[in-house]
Amino acid sequence: MAGRIPQAFLDDLLDRVDIVEVIDRRVKLKKAGKNYSARCPFHDEKTPSFSVNPDKQFYYCFGCGAGGNALTFVMEYDNLEFPQAVENLAGSTGMEVPREPRPGDLDPRQKEESSKPLYALMEQVSLYYQKQLRSHEQAHHAVDYLKGRGLSGEIAKQFGLGFAPPGWDNLQNALGSTEEQRELLIKVGMLVKNENGKIYDRFRDRIMFPIRDRRGRVIAFGGRVLGDDKPKYLNSPETEIFHKGRELYGLYEVRQTNRKLERIMVVEGYMDVIALAQHGITYATATLGTATSPAHLERVYRLCPEVVFCFDGDEAGRKAAFRALEAALPSMEDGRQARFLFLPDGQDPDDAVRAGGQSHFEHLLGEAVPLETFLFESVVQGLDISSLDGRARMSKQALPYLRQLPEGVYRQLMFQDLAARTGLELSSLMQLETPPPPVEVTPDYHSSDDHEEEPPPGYGDLPDIPNQTAPPQRGQHFQRPAPGFSNLAQAALALLLHQPDIARLISADLLNDIDDEDGELLREVLQLLHRRPESSTAMLLGHWYGTAQGNLLNQLAGQERLIPTTGIEQQFVDTMRALANLPQQSKLSAQVDKLKLTNYAEVSELEKQRLREMLQEKLRRDTLRNKPSE
Ligand code: UTP
Ligand code: MN
Repeated sequence: MAGRIPQAFLDDLLDRVDIVEVIDRRVKLKKAGKNYSARCPFHDEKTPSFSVNPDKQFYYCFGCGAGGNALTFVMEYDNLEFPQAVENLAGSTGMEVPREPRPGDLDPRQKEESSKPLYALMEQVSLYYQKQLRSHEQAHHAVDYLKGRGLSGEIAKQFGLGFAPPGWDNLQNALGSTEEQRELLIKVGMLVKNENGKIYDRFRDRIMFPIRDRRGRVIAFGGRVLGDDKPKYLNSPETEIFHKGRELYGLYEVRQTNRKLERIMVVEGYMDVIALAQHGITYATATLGTATSPAHLERVYRLCPEVVFCFDGDEAGRKAAFRALEAALPSMEDGRQARFLFLPDGQDPDDAVRAGGQSHFEHLLGEAVPLETFLFESVVQGLDISSLDGRARMSKQALPYLRQLPEGVYRQLMFQDLAARTGLELSSLMQLETPPPPVEVTPDYHSSDDHEEEPPPGYGDLPDIPNQTAPPQRGQHFQRPAPGFSNLAQAALALLLHQPDIARLISADLLNDIDDEDGELLREVLQLLHRRPESSTAMLLGHWYGTAQGNLLNQLAGQERLIPTTGIEQQFVDTMRALANLPQQSKLSAQVDKLKLTNYAEVSELEKQRLREMLQEKLRRDTLRNKPSE
């Protein structure tokens, strides 16, 4: 039975699919402005109120409220359960769905025993493919291909490269002569049995890359087409002996060729590893089409003190690198080092080393930026750190990452570095480390009484929007949410759905005192975004899919036109501050209400003191709020 599907995989999947393609394959979409629209497939309607947002990868129907991401659409439309929908979408992009092991799985020693025949079989399979590369009548195509990519026979041999000949039953005929053998070959993913019970070779007409575990046992294969067909690489599925989230391609070879290792490089592709080795860089490994995981890192750091991640310099590469950074943080014990090399746009390590050779590549490697540089560079992006505000935000954004570092000198140095960069006292930064006491309340700028009827800046004119704003309540005038949202928490949620990365501007602790449902959802969304800062709108919708909160989020995501076009960050910060003001505000009015019912003389000294303090605080805030702005 299959285990849980890892969240990181779902994120990857949503990253790779395009919701417009997914929906358009099922319901014809028409371009409407920057979105797409159609008649809603989930309810009967004459005019289209179903809209698909390609930037944020979600859909929403203004008619019936259906909404979600590509995955939820497939579930709803194809009427599939979650795991099947994942399989379906993954299949359409050529991805294999990994599974986490479950508690009921066999213990390692039992597993070891039961897996023995599988390892032996994979060894035979690997020898078979290698033999085909030497002697099959079609092998010259494969050999020419490898030569064309600059590889020598020696390197091909070292990496055990092979050739799966064209045809549906070569492997089956060679190694699957008995029923039992065929079942085993299916178990290791080399043969496939379709719904009609027909059995055929998984890999056909491909260059075969054996994937070896740390003991050198072949546990899986990657297979590359010789031309430009799709999918370019086909990988073994997850099996009893192969868990791709833990394995690094080439790690065994790296250990074989290097007696002593100073560093290990992590790249993205099979061919990168081999091309680098061909050019004398014998310490490269590759993840197997998955993001770098903490398990990968632990494995590598047990062998050497330094990891260099090598990525493409484009946006996608930077994103992948940041994920690798996140995975690395918990492993960064003293004495360990992680660096990041970004290659010029469009180049992968294979291109770079073939173009410039070993010394050029090692020169580039020397320039790789250390983890601390990459981290701080990433968190200041978009911030103006010449301003005090910008530096404060920088510290706020950096702290969640620094906190993940294990105790030690490195961690201490990172905090010092952050203090130096932000000009904040180290001691106050370290204090921020523990959850801060309830908010320092700052006045909100948008809601002084004399502006009561004016919309906040940025909203432009918004015709035909039903104004659902509740009438302002006495004593709560500054609770007024942006027009169109029924409360501040919903307004903040809508902003977060519009631009999830603004979550970094605010600590979820700000909402400690809020206990209504929307406030709680807002806190959860913030916490999720702090844990997983890369989350997209589509991922958020997926996370709450099928719950009452999910329905609200869908609806809020659909309210895009209520979102200001500029100043979103300020709007968000202001909304959150106003929200943080609420509990104080309502505590005060509760006290006042209580007083009205009591004789003042009966109020205890302590209560009087508290009331005086609250009133002073309110006075201070009101004064600040009414100060003319400079
Ligand atoms: P790339 O598409 O960057 O390929 O995939 P590459 O390594 O440069 O390949 P060449 O140079 O064209 O031969 C990087 C890695 O992503 C996984 C493989 O692990 C691949 O090495 N991948 C890619 C797949 O699993 N399937 C694919 O269809 C494509
Ligand atoms: Mn390549």
